[in-house]
This record gives sequence, C-alpha cells and structure tokens, in this order.
Amino acid sequence: MRLLGAEVRSVDSGSRTLKDAINEAMRDWVTNVRSTHYLLGSVLGAHPYPTMVRDFHKVIGREARAQILKAEGKLPTAIVACVGGGSNSIGIFHEFIKDKKVKLIGVEAGGRGEQLGDHAARFRGGSPGVLQGTYSYVLQDAAGQIATTHSVSAGLDYPSIGPEHAWLKETGRAEYVPASDAEALEACTLLARTEGIIPALESAHAVAEVVKRAPKMKKSDVVIVNISFLILLPIDNWKLAIVRINQQSKSSVNNPRASLFPNSPLSGGLPHVRRSGSCDHAGSRARGD
Ligand SMILES: Cc1ncc(COP(=O)(O)O)c(C=O)c1O
Repeated sequence: MRLLGAEVRSVDSGSRTLKDAINEAMRDWVTNVRSTHYLLGSVLGAHPYPTMVRDFHKVIGREARAQILKAEGKLPTAIVACVGGGSNSIGIFHEFIKDKKVKLIGVEAGGRGEQLGDHAARFRGGSPGVLQGTYSYVLQDAAGQIATTHSVSAGLDYPSIGPEHAWLKETGRAEYVPASDAEALEACTLLARTEGIIPALESAHAVAEVVKRAPKMKKSDVVIVNISFLILLPIDNWKLAIVRINQQSKSSVNNPRASLFPNSPLSGGLPHVRRSGSCDHAGSRARGD
C-alpha cells in the first residue's frame, strides 16, 4: 500500500489486531466524516458492506465454475476456503450455493488451542452477538465482552465472521472446521515445496483441511481449494515455520512430504494442481483491512 502512495498508520490500541485496526479506522471516519470514506475489505461491518464486498468477490466463484467445468467436465465434490471475515470464501462459495452436491467447507483459525483467546474459530467457541455493525457469531465472554483472539495468520485473527456465513452454517449448507497454527504452517511448507506455490498463511489453513480430507476421498473426486498467493506480511512466520518443522524432523528437508504427512496419500506423489490465472485474486482484491 505504501508503494502505491498510501499513508499507513499502525494501531497501538487494544490487542493491535484487525479488530483494533477497524475500531481506529471507524473512529477516524466518524471524526472526519466530510473528508473520509471508510472501506472494509471483508464481508463484515454494517450493511451494505457484507453484501457489497460479497458481490465484488463473486467473480472468484463465477470464474472457478467456468474453469472447473472446462477442465474436469463436472462440478467439484468440494470447495475449501479459509474464513477470516469471510470474503474470499463467500466469493467462491456464492456461485455454488444452489448446487447442493458441492460441499462448501470454510476453514477457521484453530490457533494454538481450544481455550477462548487461543484461536479465532467463531463457530467452535462463539455465540450470536454484534461486533462493529455485524450481527453474527462472535467470540465473547459470558458478559458479552469481545474475547481476544489468536492466529498465526493476521487475516484470520478476528473475533467475528461475515453474517452470510452464519446463515450458511445454520442452514447446514456450508460446513466450518478449524485448522491449527501448526497444521497451517505444515500445509504452507508442503504446498511450497511440492508445487512451488507459497500460499498466504491464511489460505494455508484451507490447504491443511484438504490434506486431512484427501485420504478419505475417491480418486474421481475433485476439490477446489481457494488460494490467495499473497505472502508479504507473514513471511517471517513462514521462515520460522520451516525452521520449526526442520527441527522436528531433519529428514523433512530432503523429503518434506513423506515426513510431514507419513499417512497422507500425497506422500506417494502429489496429484497435479491446476493453476488458474484467476486464482491469484490477492492481486486484484481491494482490501481495506
Ligand atoms: C491473503 C489473505 N487471504 C485471506 C484472508 C482472510 O480474509 P477473508 O476471510 O475476508 O477472505 C486475508 C485477510 O486479510 C488475507 O490477507
């Protein structure tokens, strides 16, 4: 953003996570309402932001649908995407909501444990509430105070989730699961070393879920995993992850697949990963967070 000429101000209040940055941005907006417009980069905040951002992101699903039909001649068995606020996932899910046979799987930040404060899995530890203009699932304590959150990825580290995801969850149309920090870091390394694709730590959570599910799937099943390639901010975490993984298992340096995922069908050879120009939506996304 700086390269493009923006002034970037860091946030010193609260837990200095995304929630606090949004608080500060909203404060600035209401103070300077004549000269300031607030943009939110996920399907969060007061109406019409969740709808508006969803509609801008729908192109991901539209293109994915056309491309998978062309490449495989059928719709996918499942679509897997990470869920922070929920924009990349709703963007790809939306076009497939009416196709009941296509499983929609959102992956939240399971962080470092199941205690409140150790993760950002709103559907595991959250309950209905309002945060920053959105009525949805919120990680909060018994008195309704917003809980602190933790995730290795900054983009998933938020105590609420887009309201349309709450609807998809409650109607049973989509399924939401957590992936832990460790699983995401391993998946990040796996994808980088086997496919040369360095996913953002956010989307590495989705990759981790695919790694878990793949052994239980049929060869004819087709899975789309939504990847945002952007890895500008979390690069230090990723380096740390490699160090930690290498410490765990020295053999992982030579054969990361076999040692990280000994029981995975991927350890015998990765299936071909289709790359699509449109998958690189990180570059075309206007993120306000
Ligand atoms: C690269 C990347 N992917 C995914 C996300 C998660 O956000 P959302 O759930 O709105 O797609 C973020 C959030 O900042 C991100 O930066």
